[in-house]
Amino acid sequence: MIVRIAGNPCLRGEVRVPGDKSIAHRALMLGAIAHGWTRIAGLSRGEDVASTIRVLGDLGVAISRNGEAALVQGRGLSAFDARGATLDCGNSGTTIRLMTGMLAGMDGAAVLTGDASLQKRPMRRVAEPLAALGARIELAEGGFAPIAVTGAALHAATCDVEVASAQVKTALIFAALHARGTTRLRGALRSRDHTERMLPLFGGTVERDGADIVIPGEQRLRGAFVRVPGDPSSAAFWIAGAALAPGSDVTVRDVSINPSRLGFARALQRMGADVSVGGSDDGTGEPAGWLRARASALSAIEIGAEDVPDLLDELPLIAVLATQARGRTVVRGAGELRVKESDRIATIVAMLAALGGTVEEFADGFAIEGPQALRGGTVQTHGDHRIAMAAAIAALVAKGETVIEDADCASVSYPEFFSTFSGLESAA
Ligand code: S3P
Repeated sequence: MIVRIAGNPCLRGEVRVPGDKSIAHRALMLGAIAHGWTRIAGLSRGEDVASTIRVLGDLGVAISRNGEAALVQGRGLSAFDARGATLDCGNSGTTIRLMTGMLAGMDGAAVLTGDASLQKRPMRRVAEPLAALGARIELAEGGFAPIAVTGAALHAATCDVEVASAQVKTALIFAALHARGTTRLRGALRSRDHTERMLPLFGGTVERDGADIVIPGEQRLRGAFVRVPGDPSSAAFWIAGAALAPGSDVTVRDVSINPSRLGFARALQRMGADVSVGGSDDGTGEPAGWLRARASALSAIEIGAEDVPDLLDELPLIAVLATQARGRTVVRGAGELRVKESDRIATIVAMLAALGGTVEEFADGFAIEGPQALRGGTVQTHGDHRIAMAAAIAALVAKGETVIEDADCASVSYPEFFSTFSGLESAA
C-alpha cells in the first residue's frame, strides 16, 4: 500500500487507540501458563498480538478470540505440547523473547523463529542470562533466531541483567516462575514494568528488594481478568501530530498512563508543548486515562540514556518534532534503536532526509537543528511500522505531497492507523 498525504492538514477530535501490545502479550502468555480461564478485554488487532496467539495455539493452548476479547484456557506450562514444533513469531520481538523464557522450563523442545527482520535481531541478550537458570537454548550463528529451546528443569540463580530491556527482564521472570528456588535479578532493570504489575493479578509474586527484582520459584498461577488500556505508543502519533500541526487539538481516551510509558509526554512538555495527561491509578494493575495535545511552539531538548527506556519506541516521533523545534535537539544513549524492527537510527535519518530534513547521526542517537522546512518526498519504511506512521506525522508539516511506500507495515501494531488519520484530518 502506498499512502499519499498533502495539503498540511491539522488533526482535530477524540480518538481511541488499539489496546497496548506489551500488556496483551503478557496477558495471553500468563493466561496460558495459569490454571483456569483468563479473560482479556481490549486486545489490539495488530499482527504482533496475533503472532503471540498463533504461537500459543501451536503449543496446544486453547484461545478463543472475538474481536478485542479473548478467552484463554490455561492448563499450566506442563500442558504445552511442544514436540519439536517450529513456532513463527512473525515480526514480534516481544513474542520471541518472552516465549524463549517461558519455554525454557517446559517439557519438550521447540524452535522459535520469525520474519527476515526478526531473524536479524540479537537474541544472546535472552539466551545468555537464561543459561544461568539452567536453560538449554541454541541460537543460529551470530546469535540470532531461529532459537532452539529444549525444556529443562530450571534452578534459581542471581542474574546480572546487562541490557535495559523489558523483553529480557520479562523472559527471565517467566523462566524464574518455574525454577526451583528464588531468583534474583540485578543490574539494568529500568524498563517498562507491565510484567511486575500483572503477575499479582494472576496470584503470582514478584518483589522489589531495593533495586533488585526477586522471584520465588515453582509458582502456580490462576486465571485472571485483564483489561488492556490503549497503547500509549500508538497514542503518541496523534499527540505528536497535534503538537506539531497548527490548529490541532486531539484527545486520546482510555489509554495506559503507566509512568514507564509516558516519557514521551514528559519530553513533549519539556519542549513546551501543550500536552496534558489525566486519569487515575487505582493501585491494581495498569493505570488508564487520557492524553490531550494542542498545537504550540516547540523548543529543543536533550534526551540522555536515563530518559530513553521510558520513550524508546517514540524516538522516531521525537525526531520529527525536533525538526520543528527551535534549537538543537540531541538524543544520546539510544543505541538500542539500532536493533529494533529496523536500524531505527538509520531509518529515522533516511525518512527525514527524504523530506528534505537534515539529521546528524551518532552511533547511539542523533541531533537535529530546528526549525527545518520539510518538503514532500517519498519515504521508504524498510518494513518498520513506527517509521511508516512517523512519516505520516511528518507529512503534516511537509510542504507538498509526502508518499509513504509499503505503508501497510503499520498493521504490525496499528492496523487502523491510516483510517484514523483520515478521520482526524481537518483543514488547518
Ligand atoms: C517491549 C519492550 C521494548 C519495546 C518493545 C516492547 C515489551 O523493548 O521496544 O516494543 O513489550 O517488553 P525492550 O525489550 O528493548 O525494552
